[in-house]
Amino acid sequence: MPILFDPASRVFRLDTDVSTYAMMIYEENYLVHLYYGAKVPDAAPLAKLMTRGWFDSFSPRNPKMDDPDHVQFSLDFTPQEFPGFGAGDSRASAVEVCGPAGDFVTDFRYQSHRVFPGKPALEGLPATFAQEGEAETLEIEMADPATGVKAFLLYTVFAHNGAMARSVRFENAGSNAVDLERALSLCLDLPAMDYDLIHLYGRWNKENTKVRQPLRHGSQSISSRRGMTGHNHNPFAALLRHGAGEEQGEALGVSLVYSGNFLIEAEVDTWGCPRLLAGINPDGFRWRLMPGESFQTPEAVTVFSANGLGGMSRAFHRLYSSHLIHGEWAHKKRPLLINSWEAAFFDFDGQKLVEFAKEAKELGIEMLVMDDGWFGQRSDDHRALGDWWVNEEKLGCSLKELVAQVNQQGLSFGIWYEPEMISPDSDLYRAHPDWAVCAQGRQGSVSRHQYVLDMSRKEVRDNIFEQMRAVIEGANIAYIKWDCNRNISEAASAALSPERQGEFFHRYVLGVYDLMDRVTKAFPHILLENCSGGGGRFDPGMLYYSPQIWTSDNTDPVERLSIQFGASLCYPIASMGAHVSANPRTGFETKGAVAMMGTFGYELDPRKLTPEERETIKAQVADYHKYYGLIRQGDLYRLTDPTENAHFCDWELVSQDKTQVLYTRVMMRRPECFFQHKRLVGLDPEKLYTNEETGETYSGAFLMNAGLDLSLRPWPAPKDGDCLVLHFTAQA
Ligand code: GLA
Repeated sequence: MPILFDPASRVFRLDTDVSTYAMMIYEENYLVHLYYGAKVPDAAPLAKLMTRGWFDSFSPRNPKMDDPDHVQFSLDFTPQEFPGFGAGDSRASAVEVCGPAGDFVTDFRYQSHRVFPGKPALEGLPATFAQEGEAETLEIEMADPATGVKAFLLYTVFAHNGAMARSVRFENAGSNAVDLERALSLCLDLPAMDYDLIHLYGRWNKENTKVRQPLRHGSQSISSRRGMTGHNHNPFAALLRHGAGEEQGEALGVSLVYSGNFLIEAEVDTWGCPRLLAGINPDGFRWRLMPGESFQTPEAVTVFSANGLGGMSRAFHRLYSSHLIHGEWAHKKRPLLINSWEAAFFDFDGQKLVEFAKEAKELGIEMLVMDDGWFGQRSDDHRALGDWWVNEEKLGCSLKELVAQVNQQGLSFGIWYEPEMISPDSDLYRAHPDWAVCAQGRQGSVSRHQYVLDMSRKEVRDNIFEQMRAVIEGANIAYIKWDCNRNISEAASAALSPERQGEFFHRYVLGVYDLMDRVTKAFPHILLENCSGGGGRFDPGMLYYSPQIWTSDNTDPVERLSIQFGASLCYPIASMGAHVSANPRTGFETKGAVAMMGTFGYELDPRKLTPEERETIKAQVADYHKYYGLIRQGDLYRLTDPTENAHFCDWELVSQDKTQVLYTRVMMRRPECFFQHKRLVGLDPEKLYTNEETGETYSGAFLMNAGLDLSLRPWPAPKDGDCLVLHFTAQA
């Protein structure tokens, strides 16, 4: 049983195969945190970890007036599971409720708990899932009598994944309206600050760049106030113990299954104890909860690994591949596609697309995706979002005819949508100007010449769904690229009353999830790929609906390295949209090798290829099929991080049974030293590995300890952007 409760000590322990999480019902029914780290066998000493129950003269103390001998303690010093605002703990809180009296004091205490197999779905939200036997869940009921609010803390343990999922459901059990001002999903108090904080920052064309900095006193945070996740920070962070690295030492990852405004904050208190918080960003958030109503927070997933960042990433990859991505395409072989965007931008018609399909077929490509430009009066990006009718005049035929012609060439057909947007120059806007997001009395800002549609409104979602349905049902559509090319400003809904405007951002996200749910349920055979101007909404919430997400509009293979390495900290590489484009930075070999660390596909005009390039592409297509299983199910080892080494980047994929190894190195800039040995990791020391190309055989022990001689010949000089791909096989 991964979840145990000891009634004598009132200690809960939640064990995965590699970690222990412990908390205790302390005096006055406070739920205090005891431990999260490597698995420990002991039960009794866990309660002894509650050593911080004291105070100084400025700390508000827990009152127990009727018992003067009672050992008082201060919440300001106490590690807590679900700290409220203003009741004695002055650190950043997880929850803040404005109750009937109008103050913000919030103080939840333990009431009861239950443990059950499996994992409940979270209403209206994407979340990890599990069948009975795959996970176990603890639900702790907490109550704050002065506000009348109850909070149900959910902890699901994925024992074999080294992971836990946490969320909170609030219920207004009182008889007055209350406002949730802050409703985070996770609080984790740790006893020492000897950690580095790792997170992924970025911008358009440079998403998911890893940064590492030591925790320091005060607050460090990453967040979004953009309405969507945004390019600037991914809703993921890790704490890496000092001395730990890529493959050794303690790493603790936090990933939020959410696609809107978020906050991940690490606050180190004056005693050097960090508090990690994650959830919906409290900025711009206020949720009115009427008596009897409930509110579900998104889910935060934590992974503990004693094998460094690499071990943490592989645990996230396994968890998200088997317990988050769902639907038909979670495990079905995905088609190798070519996308029209970088090949033609808006300049295409049906005939050109059929020519693309014909050429692509000869190369072995399996699907053609018609990107932006096929609908309404969409001749450029200034117009027509919201008018989802097929522009037959532009295509020169109906969509049904076009798809039939592409199918005849032997390719399936995919189509681009941007369902959440509306152009000022569109029939939809002219008919429904109030469907665009805009605060009353203000001028809405445009971004990429468009407004955001108010997805919090059901009639808006119904309209877009019906428009999409008409097109999808009218032709043989196998794939949708769902784009989202701006963030939200002047946030408000014309359909919400003033006291509920604080709900807008979250209601928007719930609306997007609802529409995605409807589309994927109505058309389960369609493969959905998310996108947001590249990787502007690359998050676990989107991954729930779409097994792949376009990682970046940047298709420069060298710049892609740090983007893909960063994304791989949390997300399986099979979810990372990656295409070979016409980008001239490197040759096709390197472009292919980098795209192979992702979904793999093409984004170029196949009519313009040289005979040599065509042969290279055919070989890449063969490799794609050959290594498909290894890329989808293998373990990723990041060997040299491009944000830490200016010359090389290399990585390795190892099959679960350790009989297949794919090693890839890209030389970003010629090194000064040409003599290099490279040690591989994650192999079986006992197995004999054969280099497929040369026939040379090495033991796993040799490759992991002595390494491969990858010295470069000074002449002919290797070029920047060259790559090396080695495949090793061993007997099972
Ligand atoms: C975004 C996407 C691109 C492409 C364009 C079309 O920028 O990231 O891949 O689909 O929109 O407008």
